Amino acid sequence: MALFGKSKKSGASSDISKEIIMPAHVGIIMDGNGRWAKKRGLPRKAGHREGAKTFRTITRYCSDIGIKYLTVYAFSTENWKRPEDEVGALMGLFKSYLEEALSDFKDDDIVVRFIGDKSGFSPELQTLMNENEESSASRKGMVLNIAMNYGSRDEIVRAVKNIAFDVKSGKLDESQIDSSLVSNYMYTAGQPDPDLIIRPSGEYRISNFMLWQSAYTEFVIMNKLWPDFTTNDMDEALRIFAQRNRRYGGV
Ligand code: FPP
Repeated sequence: MALFGKSKKSGASSDISKEIIMPAHVGIIMDGNGRWAKKRGLPRKAGHREGAKTFRTITRYCSDIGIKYLTVYAFSTENWKRPEDEVGALMGLFKSYLEEALSDFKDDDIVVRFIGDKSGFSPELQTLMNENEESSASRKGMVLNIAMNYGSRDEIVRAVKNIAFDVKSGKLDESQIDSSLVSNYMYTAGQPDPDLIIRPSGEYRISNFMLWQSAYTEFVIMNKLWPDFTTNDMDEALRIFAQRNRRYGGV
């Protein structure tokens, strides 16, 4: 049986984009899968499986309503510390997902990118990630960044090392280093910073996610576990965002 079913669209009924000012870039920390499973007496991997379904629904919804960039936190550099069977289940889920569902995003014209250190994954997963990036690169729709083996401190260290290397090799002059240059050494080079980061599950933490990029991001914490998160919750987060008065340090 196909893991993710075959529906083509998110089933969006409203068009929130006509109602509010939309963020260009949304980040989501997909949190609460474990608690969702525990509440039901199920193994944690059952929560991740449900979380994967929510991921697919919300990704399509974001594309349908005209979000230009979506970044989802799927696996952090710290998540390797989880019990072996949970990490194994997540790797299995990523593999099934990359094999059977990412091609599905073709209908939505979604560009798929992975941010994070791919080299931490099995050669098989790395190949699937590269294939998905290559086959979707020429699409024109929403850019979906899937953060896997991603940690923002690692991303910043990598950027600093690459800048140092480029200065040392003469490719770059020290006087050229400013915040926009540093942004271009991040995995998200060329993309706007996230306007909105949503964290379901009621936790008030950033958990090493987009530290550089979120300097002026609006945070919305939702009291829903990720597998229970719906397109209505997404609308609610977008409405909360639209009511914020963004001042970027000004008055
Ligand atoms: C955090 O919840 C969630 C994760 C570490 C995994 C997120 C992965 C998915 C949603 C799978 C789908 C992703 C793709 C790209 C197919 P948690 O386990 O920390 O929950 P808890 O805080 O309740 O324990």
